[in-house]
Amino acid sequence: MGLLDKHASYRDAYSGIRAAGADPFNVRFEGVLSPTEGLLDGRRIILLGTNNYLGLTFDPDCIEASAEAVRKWGTGTTGSRFANGTFKGHAALEDALASFYGRKHAMVFTTGYQANLGGISGLVGRGDHLILDADSHASIYDAARLSQSEVIRFRHNDPDDLYKRLRRLGDAPGGRLIVVEGIYSMMGDVAPLKEIVAVKREMGAYLLVDEAHSMGVLGARGRGLAEAAGVEADVDFIVGTFSKSLGAVGGFLVSDEDNFDLLRIVSRPYMFTASLPPAVIASTLTALRRLEEDSDLRVRLAANADQLWNGLRALGYAVGPHASPITAVVMPDQATAVTMWNALLTNGVYLNLAVPPATPDNRPLLRSSVSAAHTPAQIEAVLAVFAQLGQDFGLLPKRARRATA
Ligand SMILES: Cc1ncc(COP(=O)(O)O)c(C=O)c1O
Repeated sequence: MGLLDKHASYRDAYSGIRAAGADPFNVRFEGVLSPTEGLLDGRRIILLGTNNYLGLTFDPDCIEASAEAVRKWGTGTTGSRFANGTFKGHAALEDALASFYGRKHAMVFTTGYQANLGGISGLVGRGDHLILDADSHASIYDAARLSQSEVIRFRHNDPDDLYKRLRRLGDAPGGRLIVVEGIYSMMGDVAPLKEIVAVKREMGAYLLVDEAHSMGVLGARGRGLAEAAGVEADVDFIVGTFSKSLGAVGGFLVSDEDNFDLLRIVSRPYMFTASLPPAVIASTLTALRRLEEDSDLRVRLAANADQLWNGLRALGYAVGPHASPITAVVMPDQATAVTMWNALLTNGVYLNLAVPPATPDNRPLLRSSVSAAHTPAQIEAVLAVFAQLGQDFGLLPKRARRATA
């Protein structure tokens, strides 16, 4: 028996998906032409599943800062933040993030995944209570395992359920940390943060908000959901990533918490991995400045999000509860989802196929994310493909007409 035989059920499911056409989990772009277009099998494809919310991956200033840094500092740090891997730029980026969020402290991690892993597992441990929204990202669940804390899940976006579960804890010893996301990565819905904050206050818990998908998207200054909901003062910790709005890779944790820097010597995902290359730090710092200075990017992103969400809904597709840069179309079953995903690609549209167990309520999804860089014409083209395929595959009522924008 081979070591990997235990994954046979996954292998069979994956083979089934691949048999239907292209491999959705191993798409190999031959080129990336812009934040919104790629090349696949020699064809131009609209990129509609990249999390490139502000479209900054080809920003000339970010590219220039990155090129200059690689020449000056080399290709990598070849070491941990804890040892030789902290250069001037890493510290400058931490200062810039702390100042952007109006917080005393910031820590930069090598990925957003590690920011959750390292932040959460440094904050709670054995004997503490970690209270998670049931639809939390895998990095939050993995952080829970690493932390060895007692994990309590509450129903997705349900502050009453959160309250009940915290009340049930009574006077049990140990710290309490609630973790929620700003915008949820699969359906694009936002957390009811005001209500969650009210529960947190009453029950004396700490609150961490993962703003991975909401930084640069929500809030008057782009700080995320906590800013948009007006509750920043009640959010104790914010996690974010550089791999979405900031167009690079990396993650961070910011806070006003006393003794914050202790995390630098107890957080294993911070200590036992190499730090970010200087080129990434430089482009991220430049992208953060752009995010701060150019609120038009958020305006364009919101307009594109509205256009796609309204267009899909008007066609008759089941989408998330409100317009959001992430719009997921719920498919009736996995086979249809895979067929649609292939047909969309054949018709020049790339988005993400998301299948159980990685999706809320185990529903197969066609998950898209728009960018400030998409043009209204590109979104119209995507909607036209959805309209046609919806008819071809019998997913939409006959002669459904799309409202013109
Ligand atoms: C909510 C959430 N948190 C954290 C992460 C991890 O971020 P990264 O991909 O930058 O490691 C993701 C990634 O998609 C995410 O959706």
